Amino acid sequence: MDKARIDELIAAAFEVRENAYAPYSEFTVGAALLGMDGRIYAGCNVENGSYGLTSCAERNAVFAAVAEGCRNFAAIALAGGRDFIVPCGACRQILSEFNVNRVILTKRDGSYKVVALKDLLPYPFSL
Ligand code: THU
Repeated sequence: MDKARIDELIAAAFEVRENAYAPYSEFTVGAALLGMDGRIYAGCNVENGSYGLTSCAERNAVFAAVAEGCRNFAAIALAGGRDFIVPCGACRQILSEFNVNRVILTKRDGSYKVVALKDLLPYPFSL
């Protein structure tokens, strides 16, 4: 993946993060998935007063992409807090279902690192 595409994906993650609905934790997250079709699918976290119903940015991005007919992905970029944000365990499993192998973690200062999903989730559940 070239640097321009990575930068574009990161910018999309920061942009969708602006729409996050997080009145309870005040921790806003944005996720941008790059489909093999070349499109970017975005998701943000959406919280609920019944806390357990909260839905993370990563899975919302995956679900948006699948609803649009895309199931193959090159990478996902995440934008969150001051330090590098990593996907929660449940979202790692959801990313694993669709083989989203490249995960781009960003910091507020714009720096990023690329990690492999297999390093984040070495033993995914699989039927
Ligand atoms: N959150 C995400 O959106 N993605 C993650 O990988 C970790 C957590 C959200 C859920 C909740 O709205 C807030 O961050 C604090 O946990």
